[in-house]
Amino acid sequence: MEERLMRKLGSGSLEFERYFSKKALGMKASEIRELLKLVESSNVISLAGGLPASETFPVEQIKEITKEVLEEHADKALQYGTTKGFTPLRLALARWMEKRYGIPTSKVEIMMVAGSQQALDLAGRVFINRGDIVVVEGPTYLAALQAFKYYDPEFLSIPMDHKGMRIDLLEEKLKKLKAQGKKVKFVYTVSTFQNPMGVTMSVDRRKRLVELADEYDFLIIEDSPYTELRYSGEPVPPVKHFDDTGRVIYLGTFSKILAPGFRLGWIAAQPQFIRKMEIAKQSIDLCANTLAQLIAWKYVEDGYLDEHIPEIVEFYKPRRDAMLKALEDFMPEGVGWTKPDGGMFIWVTLPEGIDTKMMLEKAVAKGVAYVPGEAFFAHRDVKNTMRLNFTYVPEEKIREGVKRLAEVIEAEMKSLGD
Ligand SMILES: Cc1ncc(COP(=O)(O)O)c(C=O)c1O
Repeated sequence: MEERLMRKLGSGSLEFERYFSKKALGMKASEIRELLKLVESSNVISLAGGLPASETFPVEQIKEITKEVLEEHADKALQYGTTKGFTPLRLALARWMEKRYGIPTSKVEIMMVAGSQQALDLAGRVFINRGDIVVVEGPTYLAALQAFKYYDPEFLSIPMDHKGMRIDLLEEKLKKLKAQGKKVKFVYTVSTFQNPMGVTMSVDRRKRLVELADEYDFLIIEDSPYTELRYSGEPVPPVKHFDDTGRVIYLGTFSKILAPGFRLGWIAAQPQFIRKMEIAKQSIDLCANTLAQLIAWKYVEDGYLDEHIPEIVEFYKPRRDAMLKALEDFMPEGVGWTKPDGGMFIWVTLPEGIDTKMMLEKAVAKGVAYVPGEAFFAHRDVKNTMRLNFTYVPEEKIREGVKRLAEVIEAEMKSLGD
């Protein structure tokens, strides 16, 4: 069967590689993803994923709303829509952002996209010329690096601490670049409950970042999928809230507050930026999924979203707490980790000399998986970190997973000392 299929596909006679564009040849599947695929089907406790828990999907509300949408608005819900998106949803989101984040609706226009991942690609398309300097956090969201990389920027990675991007170090770099006659095109930040570290940029740094953007003339792309998943501490206004000149392009998404399967996100920015992204989007998919947009419209407009957010928070908080407690209970001296107030991830730092990528196979053999930190750095130059997810597996498994991981780390530290 296998052989027949291979023959049918012409394997052996076609040199597939010959047909790919240079860009496509440059695209590489991550070897870690390949390894983690195996993990999903075994008895390993995976703290590696980035998925929300399916128990948080508001299935009953979605059923109810879908029925209503199809009964009352089937003509719109099943038809092509405009590229910018379904206007009542865009207006509902603008009002929601004004109420929730203090971003005046008069200052932004909203375009619906196929998840914020599409917004990252659109940002690459409309802003990056080959060689442009793009500032990212070190570490940053892996798939943003992949999205931007396609447009050949030069990445400048700015270290992070528990208050987010080190804006003082960014300023130093900006000064140096200015002296060389160079400029940054944009700064990409996952400002709140960052992926992968879980940390939140402080208000002072947010304000300073916006000031620097004005002073050194760059844009800011603020990617904010986790803002509503807050389990402790006080809410922090988005960077966009402090933006008087329209330099901040804000990305939101329904993935973590409704369900990622909707593939629905939005961009809130100056109309001039939206217009260009709209043109870029036309040739990709014409418009975002209209049925999903109409369901999301009712979900926001009729108050389901505001009702559901506390339920998600209540579901995840014990999982965050369980992971922090397990880390405290089991990790050996010399291991550090972030203590996020929200989001989905905790970032663990091991003593220098340990390579978490090399260690992954041993961990999987002991029944636990994580994502090695290296891939989250634009220049892959940090080896001793890892990302743990606490939203997907239940508390008991989190505890057992961290215990197993601590044992693997302890053994690795010992062998390093020998
Ligand atoms: C920082 C960040 N940006 C964007 C995305 C993509 O989200 P979406 O499902 O909206 O495409 C994710 C998903 O995990 C993320 O962590």
